[in-house]
Amino acid sequence: MKVLSAASELFPLVKTGGLADVTGALPSALSAEDVEVTSVIPGYPAVMAALEKAAAFHAYKDLFGGPAQLLRGTAHGLDIIAIDAPHLFDRPGNPYLGKDGLDWPDNAGRFAALGKAAADVAGGINHRYRADVLHCHDWQAALGPVYARFLDGPKSVMTVHNIAFQGQFPATVFGLLGLPQQAFAIDGVEYYGNVGYLKGGLATADAITTVSPTYAQEICTPEYGMGLDGLLRARRHVLRGIVNGIDTDVWNPAKDALIPATYNATTLKKRVANKRTLEARFKIEPGDGLLHGVISRLTWQKGMDIFAASLDALVATGARLALLGTGETAIENAVFEASMRHPGRIGVIIGYDEELSHLLQAGADTILVPSRFEPCGLTQLYGLRYGCVPVVARTGGLNDTVIDANAAALQAQVATGFQFAPVDEATLDHTLARTAECFTDQKLWRGLQKRGMEQDVSWGRSAAAYAQLYRNLVKA
Ligand code: ADP
Ligand code: GLC
Repeated sequence: MKVLSAASELFPLVKTGGLADVTGALPSALSAEDVEVTSVIPGYPAVMAALEKAAAFHAYKDLFGGPAQLLRGTAHGLDIIAIDAPHLFDRPGNPYLGKDGLDWPDNAGRFAALGKAAADVAGGINHRYRADVLHCHDWQAALGPVYARFLDGPKSVMTVHNIAFQGQFPATVFGLLGLPQQAFAIDGVEYYGNVGYLKGGLATADAITTVSPTYAQEICTPEYGMGLDGLLRARRHVLRGIVNGIDTDVWNPAKDALIPATYNATTLKKRVANKRTLEARFKIEPGDGLLHGVISRLTWQKGMDIFAASLDALVATGARLALLGTGETAIENAVFEASMRHPGRIGVIIGYDEELSHLLQAGADTILVPSRFEPCGLTQLYGLRYGCVPVVARTGGLNDTVIDANAAALQAQVATGFQFAPVDEATLDHTLARTAECFTDQKLWRGLQKRGMEQDVSWGRSAAAYAQLYRNLVKA
């Protein structure tokens, strides 16, 4: 079984969030299921620099405004087809935004190129490769299923990692796409008179998945569907939720080279060395008391505005906080100001730092994830694996992966963390107080940590579910 995966991010080459972790980890997990994955990815500078053994695969005279070629090679054990199109992708930094922090004005063409190249490759534009299934991730790759449908390509899967980002463009963009006129319709890319990339992918893919069962239900409702819930309800029969796993080699506290002290569920005491280093890095007073952790985009989705307003209450419980994140300026300022009000109690590092994120999971007592919506969420899964107890909003994948420490779950010895709802300041304050109280019972806390570490957060089961989905599509 050959699957072509198309996405705009791929760990460790290009990452702005969890999408990269997923597309980077799935290929090796799927190979255990006899699925050979090739990943098509825009030729950003970091991709072109990492590509090894690159060979010409196909040449375009004109791919959305200039000549381009597809190169097939490898990087970090991944089989890659890079879209070497300097006019579209030879730009440093964030893959979507220019230096001004705004979307590149030609994003419609840049990501139409990704969808088109993916469908071409999957459909056998080079006779040496043809995919059984084309698997596209998020709006940037969502024209893949559209091209595959209207230009006779293979079966396709569309995975939604976040329905908030849809890739909507004015109707004039349709003329650039080279699709037959009938694709500008309700069962194609037309979306309230405009062009919707994700809408098109959802309308045309043979199967739709999203990254947790709860989010699969949520996006069928007006509250979470962001305008696409009607279409998703109509296509519910092909929609399912498959929860993300994590790369258990990259995230393994027993072998992690990025942390001072490695440990496992029977040597949890060793975490204290990581806690000391973490406190020093974040300029927090050392101590054995509760130390909360946050690793997050500082955005509305993540509930970080409400969280920022709860920081005085957090300190009032006697706890401390190490926060690593970057995002909206107002939230960055709010958390920074809280760290000024509470020196030694709240440590904030504004920035993106993969290495520090490992130290945080290995040294903090909790990982706080107060998201308003969360398709899957990965930081709580890393937390489970690292004995860093997740404290999460009851939504999306957070709901599916953390078992709340309520009386019944504690009694049954199945609790792995804390859940709360709704996401508002009063509930958050209450949850922080509840967490602090539980932390005083170290036996209870150790139980949460150990059970979390025993959870299977690997890709095993989910990779098997994707493989089964591919097989069903090919059979149908
Ligand atoms: P999302 O993709 O919505 O941001 P996820 O929880 O799925 O949320 O994935 C976020 C990923 O990005 C995780 O791997 C997390 O560790 C990482 N991450 C987020 N912010 C930072 C940061 N400031 N520094 C390092 N890693 C970060
Ligand atoms: C998106 C979602 C996040 C999910 C990730 C990977 O970024 O916001 O919840 O974990 O994709 O699927």
